[in-house]
Amino acid sequence: MSTQSVLEFLDRNDAAATQRLVDWLRIPSISTDPKYAADVRRAAEWVAGQLKDLGFAVEVRETTNAQGAGHPIVMATIDGAATYKGPHVLFYGHYDVQPVDPVDLWESPPFEPVIKPAQKGGPGERIVARGAVDDKGQVMTFIEACRAWKETTGHPTAGAKYTIMLEGEEESGSVSLEPFVRKFKKELQACDVCLISDTGMLGRDKPAITYGVRGLAYTEITLHAANQDLHSGLWGGRCPNPITELARVLAQLHDKKRRVTIPGFYDAVRPLTKQERANWKKLKFSAVGALKKIGLTAAADIGEAGFTAMEREWGRPTAEINGIWGGYTGHGAKTVIPAKASAKVSFRLVADQDPGKITKMFFKWCKAHTPPGCHWELNDHHGGFGVTVPTDSPTLAAAAKALKRASGKEAAMIKSGGSIPVAGMLKSLLGIDTIFMGFGLDDDRVHSPNEKFELSCYRLGQRAHALFMAELVGG
Ligand code: BES
Ligand code: MN
Ligand code: MN
Repeated sequence: MSTQSVLEFLDRNDAAATQRLVDWLRIPSISTDPKYAADVRRAAEWVAGQLKDLGFAVEVRETTNAQGAGHPIVMATIDGAATYKGPHVLFYGHYDVQPVDPVDLWESPPFEPVIKPAQKGGPGERIVARGAVDDKGQVMTFIEACRAWKETTGHPTAGAKYTIMLEGEEESGSVSLEPFVRKFKKELQACDVCLISDTGMLGRDKPAITYGVRGLAYTEITLHAANQDLHSGLWGGRCPNPITELARVLAQLHDKKRRVTIPGFYDAVRPLTKQERANWKKLKFSAVGALKKIGLTAAADIGEAGFTAMEREWGRPTAEINGIWGGYTGHGAKTVIPAKASAKVSFRLVADQDPGKITKMFFKWCKAHTPPGCHWELNDHHGGFGVTVPTDSPTLAAAAKALKRASGKEAAMIKSGGSIPVAGMLKSLLGIDTIFMGFGLDDDRVHSPNEKFELSCYRLGQRAHALFMAELVGG
């Protein structure tokens, strides 16, 4: 039977599949830093070459946005077999990665991937590099499944119809993606469902389908006071210190119950249903266990009152300060009152909150809280809608079945607090739902030094994609 041969092919070619991922990970495709633009393109060309070799029709398309040219998007298509009756699947992934800072905390250089052996009581055998799990490793689970089908049967997706879209700006706000989706609306609209491997599992040996991700609204605010830096002895006590005043304002962003105080912030929030809360409880997620792994105790299990950690991550909106700066931060002491102070403030959103409206509400709130004598400079960075997808679709059932066949375990239905802007865009512009079938683990150090992807997860992903294709063609 061909499915069995495909799985055997994956087993036999395991080392080569890991080596290919290593090759891709060597390319420093950091999308947010213009210095790496040529490397970002090289990463796109690399993956385009892989897809070409597998028989896809591939194009590396240029993109544009309001600021000018963006990073390319790799598009690839393969027709279904003449007898294919299933959905046209749009596989989305991203080939760009986050910056590596702080670079001195890496145990090995971020773009020189190393395979580390399993550690007793710790992580399993793993590949360590920037982008290992987010998202190159996960994209490669799909590509290796295609290779296995191609080598075994001659068709890279078992005879199912696929379009592939690989973005190079996911980690920097997907600014060119919306114009791109609009421009190629017709072509994309031909797809029935989107499949993304860029999320995590419930735990080791606990495969999962993520049926929702949160939205995001990202801002930067600067509070200006005097038109120049001042001597803090001569001026301290006579005029506003923008750092102190900014800190006072930001400290009011949450109330005693750790709820966000911006008027209207919760207006559009879809409340958690009893059913959902009961389902999540059954997943037996250990909030304290997770805190322990990041060096915290049970005392640190804090957040919006009345909700569990899982509910707070998956189903409730939050406000976070991601950076704050101003004044003197160099060596030694400098007695200064600076002219300004800044912060990066972002909001994770749930259905049906609109990122544009949330940003407006926040800016209005800032203005209403303007410290005496000061004024604001308010900047909107980027955002995206959250999504929750129906859990009763046949394609989602096929993904769950594939995961079960690949792992021997029932797939858990989970949500994630992270954001993947494309999903909301595909839903609002094209009406396409997304299935998130991801293979990351909680301790993969996503966006952090020593990011890893465990080889067992890499293998599971390859098998799951191969079996999902088998499900699509009816076996
Ligand atoms: N893959 C992540 C999001 C993610 C990680 C979702 C783990 C679920 C589980 C993605 O690459 C990411 O980092 N997204 C950004 C959003 C973006 C607009 C910068 C995020 O969530 O911060
Ligand atoms: Mn990602
Ligand atoms: Mn990411």
